[in-house]
Amino acid sequence: MASKCCILGYGAAAKTDSRMYAFNRTAKEIQYGWSDILARVSVIMTSYNKPEYVGKSIESILKQTLTDFELLLMDDNSNKKTKKVIGSYLNDKRIKYYCSNVTSISERAEKIRYAVQINKALSMATGQYISYATDDNIYRPQRLEKMVNTLESNPEIKIVYSGSKVLSLDKNGEVKKTMHRMAKSKTWLAPCTIDHCSIMHRADILPTIYEKWNSYWDEDPQFYFIGDARFFWRLNHFWPFHPINEVLDDNYITKKSLHGQMTCAKKNRLIRLLPEQRTCKELRDYLRNLGGDK
Ligand code: TYD
Ligand code: MG
Repeated sequence: MASKCCILGYGAAAKTDSRMYAFNRTAKEIQYGWSDILARVSVIMTSYNKPEYVGKSIESILKQTLTDFELLLMDDNSNKKTKKVIGSYLNDKRIKYYCSNVTSISERAEKIRYAVQINKALSMATGQYISYATDDNIYRPQRLEKMVNTLESNPEIKIVYSGSKVLSLDKNGEVKKTMHRMAKSKTWLAPCTIDHCSIMHRADILPTIYEKWNSYWDEDPQFYFIGDARFFWRLNHFWPFHPINEVLDDNYITKKSLHGQMTCAKKNRLIRLLPEQRTCKELRDYLRNLGGDK
């Protein structure tokens, strides 16, 4: 039975159709004109229990200077407070809201939940370009525009990344530490140096990934802390990441977040249920052996 919180279901039947729709776009584009049928960018936002931040994250996307996007808002069955905040934005027609029906913590530990949600979103996304967001990340206003411009003026580039400001917050929400992730050079060694909120890739690279690994993002919980690095590891088998040397997002690390929990003496139940975690070093060494960034 469908979860009551869902405004739209996952629509299994639409899965193949929407992907095919996306990849058959050229003919449709010629026939109807691009903007009539598809969004230019699919922004995929994952969300779980961040009522204090999720509204700001959504607003930062709705206020982008590039307006031709769809926002696939993938909520992982958050608490009422979070759903209420999200609900207040759903009158914007560009938002497509999906909600899972996961309830138990043990279920959350079985697979990387954000990877599961992103994979569902990717199967439904219709944009020419894919961009990722989280419920505690703020896009700067020109983020989508600058990334799309770079991809449109460089047809050979498949993936771009930008600089990012990382702010670590204490339990009262005060900024305790900041650092900048830079975006200076083309890299075949993206894992653990770039966050997924700082990249955009062409949608048409996805079938290559699916063909090799039978999924887009790896849902294996051994990579729970570095799920984006694991996805970048897959991407770096085929393509480098190209830099846009400018900070285009602000990334908040809260005490409640997965990485915030790493520094807490008492770990929450989800973290305690996870299997032993695989490492950045392993992913990066593997890519170095493939010849990455030599
Ligand atoms: P987050 O707690 O922000 O971790 P990090 O320290 O890596 O930033 O979680 C990352 C994303 O995963 C966030 O958008 C929420 C999502 N998420 C789910 O969708 N389901 C879950 O059960 C959890 C724990 C997170
Ligand atoms: Mg986070």
